[in-house]
Amino acid sequence: MAHEQTLAVVGAGNMGSGIAQKMATEGFRVILVDLDEAALQRGVTNIRNTLKEAVERKIMSAEVAEAVIARLLPTTDWSRLAEAELVVEAVFEDLEVKRTVFRRLAENCRPDTILGSNTSSFYVRDLASVVDHPERVIGLHYFYHPAKNRLVEVVPAEQSSPEAIAKAWTLQEAMGKTPIACQDAPGFVVNRYFVPWLNEAVRLLEEGVADIPTIEAAAKKAWRIGMGPFELMNVTGVPIAMHAANTLGQQLGAFYAPAALLCAQVAKKENWSLAGEPDPSRFAAVEERMLGAVFMVAGELVDEGVGSIEDTDIGARVGLRWSKGPFELMNVTGIERAVAMARACCERYGRELPGVLATQLKTGKPFDFTLVEVERDGEVCTLSLNRPDAMNAINQDVVAQLSARFAEASADPELKVIVIAGKGKGFIAGADIRFFVKNIEKNDIPAIQSFTAEGQELLARFAASDKVVVARLDGLSLGGGSEIAMACDYIVATDKGSMGFPETGIGIYPGLGGTQRLSRRVGLPLARWLVLSGTAVDAKTAQAMGLVDAVVPHAELGSAIRAVAARGKPNRDQAPPSTVPAGFESIATVFDQDLATLLETDPSGVEGPAGKAVKALRFKAPIALRLADRLMREGARVSLKEGLAMELAHLDEIFRTKDAYEGLSTLGKARPVYRGE
Ligand SMILES: NC(=O)c1ccc[n+]([C@@H]2O[C@H](COP(=O)([O-])OP(=O)(O)OC[C@H]3O[C@@H](n4cnc5c(N)ncnc54)[C@H](O)[C@@H]3O)[C@@H](O)[C@H]2O)c1
Repeated sequence: MAHEQTLAVVGAGNMGSGIAQKMATEGFRVILVDLDEAALQRGVTNIRNTLKEAVERKIMSAEVAEAVIARLLPTTDWSRLAEAELVVEAVFEDLEVKRTVFRRLAENCRPDTILGSNTSSFYVRDLASVVDHPERVIGLHYFYHPAKNRLVEVVPAEQSSPEAIAKAWTLQEAMGKTPIACQDAPGFVVNRYFVPWLNEAVRLLEEGVADIPTIEAAAKKAWRIGMGPFELMNVTGVPIAMHAANTLGQQLGAFYAPAALLCAQVAKKENWSLAGEPDPSRFAAVEERMLGAVFMVAGELVDEGVGSIEDTDIGARVGLRWSKGPFELMNVTGIERAVAMARACCERYGRELPGVLATQLKTGKPFDFTLVEVERDGEVCTLSLNRPDAMNAINQDVVAQLSARFAEASADPELKVIVIAGKGKGFIAGADIRFFVKNIEKNDIPAIQSFTAEGQELLARFAASDKVVVARLDGLSLGGGSEIAMACDYIVATDKGSMGFPETGIGIYPGLGGTQRLSRRVGLPLARWLVLSGTAVDAKTAQAMGLVDAVVPHAELGSAIRAVAARGKPNRDQAPPSTVPAGFESIATVFDQDLATLLETDPSGVEGPAGKAVKALRFKAPIALRLADRLMREGARVSLKEGLAMELAHLDEIFRTKDAYEGLSTLGKARPVYRGE
């Protein structure tokens, strides 16, 4: 996975070492700079320890961990920074120290190197103002532990250029981060509500509304989190919470200033005592106050344009691991009640009810979220699925929004190319399995049929549109995700892209064209190999099979998309090719045999990947295998349209099997036991 790009981190402390580790893990060369050898050594030891833990937990192999270490270049020689495309500053939180570091960066880096700062409390503009070419300075606010927590707040300064912002953003995605966009404002997005959340907990204690164990238990229950506010403060440092509240309070008013009891606790130099039994009769009072504070703040920050509703929620889910973001929590609470809670908070602290809440209350409806983002660049329009923490899994809302945005782009005479992309690490991880399980339990198979039919209709419009539709496969795709990619005219991937059809392993078959379009791209035997065995292939393998049209580095995705689009619209509605792509002959020979023979074959007698695939068949749901196989074989003899209709027609049959329920409901929990029923 190694590539030639070089990034750098200055400051090898807690944050800097973790950021460097993440960059190196994603294949970048990383220059790590600190004041002296001892500080560098501490940073490298930190990284070694975290990697060791990953190896012990079998998240990473020892060889990969060694390769990560080998990509690190710890040095005190600042002139090495000339090699880097991006430098992230992560030194002490001291404005003068940071400004000195930025001046030194400007002396040592190329004029186009992006200079990022991990500052938590200063304005990015105050760092940009000390360097030449301030347009390349961007805030990049990571969260502890930066090698594990995916969130990064991308904070342009008023001086930042659009090119620098785009490049900084792209590099964050390339290093496996989930970026959200924030304005250069106190606390950015997440700390703006997280710090008041901690502070409000202390006020509840101060006012005698509840004791610590009660507040802890109530917060854990309401937010579905492992640690409550007091335990979190103990773990990250009580003074940090106070300093953060101080910074916010100075700029945003008394509500944000630290509670007197918080300052007193810091003066005592003690952690909070968590001992005692919670009192459930006080849970509602605690919840009400803490939710009210978060709702008010979330409304304020959206009003001020600091972040969007969606990014505010993504920040909470990814950065804080809350099960829901503030706006989703308002929806669950009910808008009327949620606004009443926020209003009570506003009244208590003499603040105005945020406009976004007042407006929503008038509609009387829950917040609508933008699940598909639209970005235009000349003739190219990119539609990005925006559920990065759910790997962009598709559900009814996503299909409805994708459908609407696709129709708009398709009707726009100025556009020539529509790109389908996924935000964050994955492309699209298939359909929302819970939707299937829920409807099987309700015995509402027609709901599943109509959801699938709507999906099929949307995908058919990709080929029918006069725009060239390109899938930007920059991460994992599974099931429905791979089917969406195949419905596009072309698939352009990075080496992080992958495709796979795990359906027969969860008791069903691919229903969004997977049994039809795959064979038309790679031929029947290879399509049967992938669908029946559930084997996933990486982008390069997919390209060798003719499934993916180009594989390029992340930075070249845009030009590669334009290049394939220039070929015009291909006709994908052709009979499957009878030739086998070079290198796949033996797999094709094995998977040219009928299913019954394959199931009887002893895998130990079959060499290489074909043997593994034959073995995998034994763990699949038998009815799903039979139906998938039949649909692929019969579909290959008819038009794509007829094939797709057949795929839809058998959904009722497959979703009514006991095995479908077994496979779908045990996913991620237990190994399914299939009975062929
Ligand atoms: N700790 C967190 O949870 C967290 C979260 C988000 C952001 N941040 C921010 O990240 C930054 C770093 O925080 P940290 O917790 O890693 O601090 P830290 O004290 O662990 O590390 C700071 C490092 O910077 C080095 N350093 C100091 N001055 C330097 C200089 N002039 N040149 C080069 N290196 C220098 C130090 O030797 C040390 O290794 C701060 O701006 C902080 O606000 C921290």
